[in-house]
Amino acid sequence: MTAQTLIDTARALVAGDKGLLAMDESNATCNKRFAALGIPQTEGARRDWRELIATAPGLGDSIGGAILFDETIRQKTHAGVPFAKVLADAGIIPGIKVDTGAKPLAGHPGETVTEGLDGLRERLAEYAGMGARFAKWRGVIAIGDGLPSRACIDVNAHALARYAALCQEAGVVPIVEPEVLMDGSHSLARCAQVTEEVLREVFAQLSAQGVLLEGMLLKPNMVLPGQGSPVQDSVEAVADATVACLLRTVPAAVAGVAFLSGGQSAQLASARLAAMNTRFKSRLPWPLTFSFSRAVQQPALDAWKGDAANVAVAQQALVFRTRCNRAARRGEYDAQKDAPR
Ligand code: 13P
Repeated sequence: MTAQTLIDTARALVAGDKGLLAMDESNATCNKRFAALGIPQTEGARRDWRELIATAPGLGDSIGGAILFDETIRQKTHAGVPFAKVLADAGIIPGIKVDTGAKPLAGHPGETVTEGLDGLRERLAEYAGMGARFAKWRGVIAIGDGLPSRACIDVNAHALARYAALCQEAGVVPIVEPEVLMDGSHSLARCAQVTEEVLREVFAQLSAQGVLLEGMLLKPNMVLPGQGSPVQDSVEAVADATVACLLRTVPAAVAGVAFLSGGQSAQLASARLAAMNTRFKSRLPWPLTFSFSRAVQQPALDAWKGDAANVAVAQQALVFRTRCNRAARRGEYDAQKDAPR
């Protein structure tokens, strides 16, 4: 596998004005979202939901790559076509979540370390054989009283870099996702400080472990005040703080930056991404795009409710959100024409 293949794939994932679609929720997370809407929490229902997404007409216009969960990449649609092939046929590069989840970090109450390195070389080879050309690993950093600890930042950054190096060895583009959570009542400034510290360590580890920056994507959080903070900053303030943080910490060689949505409303996630691209377009060394799960899927899931009669309307809701975010990437999103925040 040549470095050029990694670079070509990484660029293709964020080509034009496209973004990525995260549809890689673990069974537990997917079931939780289904339960809230009274949808059965079964393998069949999860398959139906993922089929609705992957076959949505027009999805490939705005989505360059979609991240699958292990269960989904092994499933087929009702027509008997594997999900990776359905996506590839729609012009969407298939990807795979390869971490096995955030587990409690020993000696550090309230903090986690993401697991999944054992056997990863073999699993990557298997996933590549099933058509996956890129992968995702999410490290989680919580802000709280005395948190995050230095230990939490170090172990998660180290694991992200080990994962990324293994991916590139297998010819698979790594999406490196260090997520600073928006849970809590901290300020925008505190999130900026923690995100900067985390990204500095992540890139130090990526460098130390020889990861090719041109052949990877970064999937960061936006710099936001905590969900419980009494001060909710403006869209412009979030855009400015986020871009300032990224410009300080993310090398220009990185192929692209694609945000997670992290619990923001669909409309705010689009508006903030648009503001970044409007205000900083000429100063950004990397494409700044989206890799949302909730902020793209939730309106469609609300419309579907597990009922086959709602598939078409749910697909329209899904594709509408991908188009909003595609426009946001161009800096052309019009919040007035979108639903209320
Ligand atoms: P959200 O956009 O819902 O945060 O999910 C993105 C993701 O892939 C988390 O790992």
